[in-house]
Amino acid sequence: MRFSLLTVLSAGAAIGHALPRNLKAREVSTDELSQFKFWAQYAAASYCNENYASKPGHKITCSAGNCPQVEQADTSIVYDFSNTTSTDTAGYLALDNTNNAIVLAFRGSYSVRNWISDVEFFYTDPKLCDGCSAELGFWSSWTNVRDSISGVLNDTVAQHSDYDLVIVGHSLGAGVATLAAADLRGKGYPSAKLYAYASPRVANPALAKYITAQPNNYRFTHINDPVPKLPLIAMGYVHVSPEYYITSPNNATVSASDIKVLEGDINWNGNTGTGVPGLGDFPAHHWYFEETDGCKGPGLPFRV
Ligand SMILES: *[C@@H]1O[C@H](CO)[C@@H](O)[C@H](O)[C@H]1NC(C)=O
Ligand SMILES: *[C@@H]1O[C@H](CO)[C@@H](O)[C@H](O)[C@H]1NC(C)=O
Ligand SMILES: *[C@@H]1O[C@H](CO)[C@@H](O)[C@H](O)[C@H]1NC(C)=O
Repeated sequence: MRFSLLTVLSAGAAIGHALPRNLKAREVSTDELSQFKFWAQYAAASYCNENYASKPGHKITCSAGNCPQVEQADTSIVYDFSNTTSTDTAGYLALDNTNNAIVLAFRGSYSVRNWISDVEFFYTDPKLCDGCSAELGFWSSWTNVRDSISGVLNDTVAQHSDYDLVIVGHSLGAGVATLAAADLRGKGYPSAKLYAYASPRVANPALAKYITAQPNNYRFTHINDPVPKLPLIAMGYVHVSPEYYITSPNNATVSASDIKVLEGDINWNGNTGTGVPGLGDFPAHHWYFEETDGCKGPGLPFRV
């Protein structure tokens, strides 16, 4: 099916009301909070040119100063990707010898504003489960780099079999990360962890249910961020559960009590219930524990 901006705006008007708060939220511990903040720095690092257009062995750095704990760790890029496919999927695969992790990070698109106003959403069958459909753009972004990443990943894991595989992304990169995690978990990496910050919806209910049933999903939203509200529920898309809904204001330090853990593929008590996606709501998109996309380079179209 084909959807355009007009569909978005007209259908969006129908969903802007929150339902009664009837779900009991689980508390987030301070240990979890520090994990959430730490992996957000890896997502932030995927926006820095020095990491996604890198050389093997490069230590991860963030020119915007927004990944200090990653910079303190013993890291090295194993493989990076950008500018090589029709979808311009960008990111890196890195080793973290301090935290015993292999990190696969996907960069968000520079043109997320364009994406919101111009994109058409199509379904494709990712062949992950019966009746499952994925959003075509995100799925192709992953499959365009899947073979090359899979080979390097297998070699890296063979050398570090005690390390965790952690897949991260922010914005459109979180959408790609979600589908990559779902796919890789079924292909030899069942306990891969997913930290998806500000992800759009990427799945129909059957695929969302399939991913939700896999372990180690951490999907974050922040107040009225417009990006996780798209593609619309009215188009048949839903989210992976649970949602870690960050309620603190833009630019504010996030504490554990600011995060609500909400279950369900549609939950009106979180980001979904904060109204129709608005272009004026972008400040919330940039702030996931820190200015996540602070490394977006100069000369790129939409620095919002
Ligand atoms: C990507 O390709 C375009 C066109 O060839 C070039 O102008 C741009 O600098 C490249 N970007 C990166 C990050 O390599
Ligand atoms: C990597 O390993 C997985 C799981 O064993 C396998 O399915 C996949 O084909 C391998 N990829 C490559 C490129 O060898
Ligand atoms: C948040 O920080 C950004 C970037 O430093 C700034 O442009 C914006 O005005 C700040 N917003 C608030 C609400 O303080």
